[in-house]
Amino acid sequence: ALRQSFARKAKNQDQTSPNMLQVQASFKVAVLGAAGGIGQPLALLVKMSPLVSDLHLYDIANVKGVAADLSHCNTPSRVLDFTGQDELANCLKDVDVVVIPAGVPRKPGMTRDDLFNINASIVKTLVEAVADNCPDAFIHIISNPVNSTVPIAAEVLKQKGVYNPKKLFGVTTLDVVRANTFVAQNKNLKLIDVDVPVIGGHAGITILPLLSKTKPSVTFTDEEVQDLTVRIQNAGTEVVEAKAGAGSATLSMAYAAARFVESSLRALDGDSDVYECSFVQSELTELPFFASRIKIGKQGVEAVISSDLQGLTEYEEKALEALKPELKASIEKGVAFATKQT
Ligand code: NAI
Repeated sequence: ALRQSFARKAKNQDQTSPNMLQVQASFKVAVLGAAGGIGQPLALLVKMSPLVSDLHLYDIANVKGVAADLSHCNTPSRVLDFTGQDELANCLKDVDVVVIPAGVPRKPGMTRDDLFNINASIVKTLVEAVADNCPDAFIHIISNPVNSTVPIAAEVLKQKGVYNPKKLFGVTTLDVVRANTFVAQNKNLKLIDVDVPVIGGHAGITILPLLSKTKPSVTFTDEEVQDLTVRIQNAGTEVVEAKAGAGSATLSMAYAAARFVESSLRALDGDSDVYECSFVQSELTELPFFASRIKIGKQGVEAVISSDLQGLTEYEEKALEALKPELKASIEKGVAFATKQT
């Protein structure tokens, strides 16, 4: 019986491997800021995707070498490099997913909001080019402060008459990745099983892990909730301080961003079971943008999952109310920046 079972298994594998090879590498992905600390490992991880046919790498400098290096990996996608504003339009033509990790990272003592002055302009310029060249693409914003850069991107797209709220995503996947890791460690759970939704925004107290909604269901003491919540909120600062002036999270961020790209590509490819947390235009609360679990489909955000906000603990309810003024101010700051410029 055992031999038969092995034989069956082997036969199934034989049948599935050709299917695996049939995965269509048909999507074009552009990374803007591809020579940076996040951009390079992110480009490598996207190069490994069987769904990607073309990988376009854009930066203001140093991207040629990155592309030459990556192009030697024997995975399906063709890698092309684009340097400087003059080559940005070509980089973006016919692209399905644009990922934006361009901009400056934090140094010790800085908040994400301290990056606003530089990164707001970078994101504005890049999204203008996205609007002109691939308005139907999914846009993944990584550049901080995400709580403001996503509203800036939305305003730019509105001004260009091509805003589709279903296709603009603030990448908060790293908060989920961190929450999953820390909870699994704390509770001695198998990492692969753990899923913690993280809502709100992507800075300090606006990052709200809903530990009561952890899957598999686990219980936490009040002290554990407090400690884990604060650690997840400050995890970025943990890395900034450890790097001591050399930047912020790049490798874990690239991992998280690649997961979000892969989820988007699976959705574009017709998978109807794709869920991620993301900072998107939302009606879940009174705030115009809010991070929560979403269902992603071929047309972008297919549904914003409201059930996570039901039955919150008292701690989570309070934290949710406490984060709203800060998140609101960051959103308004982004909108004001984008509208004053016109
Ligand atoms: P980095 O300085 O290593 O790389 C940034 C890259 O952007 C550089 O290669 C630079 O040449 C490029 N760049 C600058 N201006 C540009 C422009 N106008 N067009 C295209 N490229 C341009 O920084 P790193 O560590 O890669 O971080 C990038 C951004 O990601 C920062 O804003 C950082 O705060 C943010 N970040 C976001 C996270 C999230 O969870 N959403 C987590 C970690 C970082």
